Amino acid sequence: MKTLGLLGTGVIGGGWAARALHFGIDVIATDVKPEMEAWIRGAVANAEPALARLTSAPLPPKGELSFTTDMGAMAERADFIQENIPEQLPLKQRVLAEVSRRASPDVIIASSTSGLMPSELQREMLAPQRFCVAHPFNPVYLLPLVELVGGEKTAAATIEAAATYLRYIGMHPLHVRREVPGHLTDRLQEALWREILHMVNDGVATTGELDDAIVYGPGLRWAAMGTNLIYHLAGGEAGMRHMLEQFGPCLKWPWTKLQAPELTDALIDCMVEGTQAQAGGRSIRELERLRDDYLVAVQQVLRQYGIGAGGTLRRLEERLYEDAAAPAAPGAPAADPAAPLRLVDTVVRPEWVDYNAHMTDYRYLQVFGEAMDALYRRVGVDDAYRRSGRMFYNVETHVKHAHEAKVGEPLYVTTQVLGVDDMRLHVFHRLHRRRDDAPIASGEQMHVHVDSGAARAAPIDPAVRAKLDAIRDAQAALPAPREAGRRIGRTSG
Ligand SMILES: NC(=O)c1ccc[n+]([C@@H]2O[C@H](COP(=O)([O-])OP(=O)(O)OC[C@H]3O[C@@H](n4cnc5c(N)ncnc54)[C@H](O)[C@@H]3O)[C@@H](O)[C@H]2O)c1
Repeated sequence: MKTLGLLGTGVIGGGWAARALHFGIDVIATDVKPEMEAWIRGAVANAEPALARLTSAPLPPKGELSFTTDMGAMAERADFIQENIPEQLPLKQRVLAEVSRRASPDVIIASSTSGLMPSELQREMLAPQRFCVAHPFNPVYLLPLVELVGGEKTAAATIEAAATYLRYIGMHPLHVRREVPGHLTDRLQEALWREILHMVNDGVATTGELDDAIVYGPGLRWAAMGTNLIYHLAGGEAGMRHMLEQFGPCLKWPWTKLQAPELTDALIDCMVEGTQAQAGGRSIRELERLRDDYLVAVQQVLRQYGIGAGGTLRRLEERLYEDAAAPAAPGAPAADPAAPLRLVDTVVRPEWVDYNAHMTDYRYLQVFGEAMDALYRRVGVDDAYRRSGRMFYNVETHVKHAHEAKVGEPLYVTTQVLGVDDMRLHVFHRLHRRRDDAPIASGEQMHVHVDSGAARAAPIDPAVRAKLDAIRDAQAALPAPREAGRRIGRTSG
């Protein structure tokens, strides 16, 4: 899967483009309006700062974005097509039928529809077995959830292949096993929204108060545990059974209305004025940036617990590290084994800089740590190895700075293995600027292999040792780095 074709490049098309490009997929975007080219390029640029902070795992080179108003040209070149045109059944049916006649029958065609039924959407298509709904959530580039729904004619293999690709670009495909209008999530969201509209209409609360009713309580819980598991906890030791006994009767009382209220002008005004007051003069762009920043931060916290979207992020990172450590694909130019290994490509993130706007000291250690992580994966020291009670500890580091690195500066690390013995690994990293390869810092480290159960140094696994020896031997002709073995000097240079 190399090229994603997008049909419709509004809010959702733009989000799909940003996510796919970031994870190395080329994108051909199509829209009936030529002016959408500028829009989608802007949308991708706006998404980039937050996406770039989502993970520091090594990423493949970015994909390339192209734009055309010729849907047929896109359909003939894309490996996967995602439709994101307005939510109107006859329009979607017509366009999906058209695109299915231009794309090869093995190309999956997915729809971003928020609630239309896949059986209806695929009705007029050629090879309808390759169609499914892949319903994402805004912002598509940061939220991993995507509902996958097949229609009557969808092949099981289509759902499987779509899920594999969506996982590759960091998403969590949720297979909705039975098609229902609104799928799962929008049905739940709409129930909540209807109650909001009633309460605003009845003057019970403002939009801001109703948002507070979620944000300070249930919203915090929902980021990692859904309503059902949370209610199971709320029932005490007896869990959900007790919860149902205690609160079940309330379900019969008229707490909720569930039928939508009439959207009168007065109700629309209340909703619009309420949300404008909540925005407090901040533009949509400003609020989007704030939303994106906390969505990144929340996922990084959840990653520590391996829960919900944090689990998805962890698995994505595992794969990115594995891909980076894998030998080059057949046919790709092989890296020179006699040269230092290029293990990490990164960029100086806004939170890495100090008051000088330069990368702060401890971030150098972080980047060298990432290079070590990549080296370890390459030689077979992965999570399974660590779970077996063996790992390497860093016992000494010497960092030497040569130039500063400013925010946004693309960097990479090369690593030379200076020595390996039964229990020790001696390495030398150099951090370079990508734009001119200038070295900006070096880091020399000694790592010791340990048996973590016994809490003492232990011999390196023979298979790992053989791979480390092979890297050291291949690099044996490299000159010893000038900075290696240095103590703190009194002069620069
Ligand atoms: N906005 C959301 O939060 C959200 C979330 C998930 C899914 N969706 C779904 O995604 C789809 C798109 O929603 P959106 O919010 O991006 O809409 P949008 O109005 O922002 O974008 C739709 C784009 O489709 C283009 N278009 C119209 N007819 C076309 C055609 N025949 N060929 C090519 N392009 C065409 C329009 O010019 C426009 O740029 C809808 O089905 C919607 O239900 C929206």
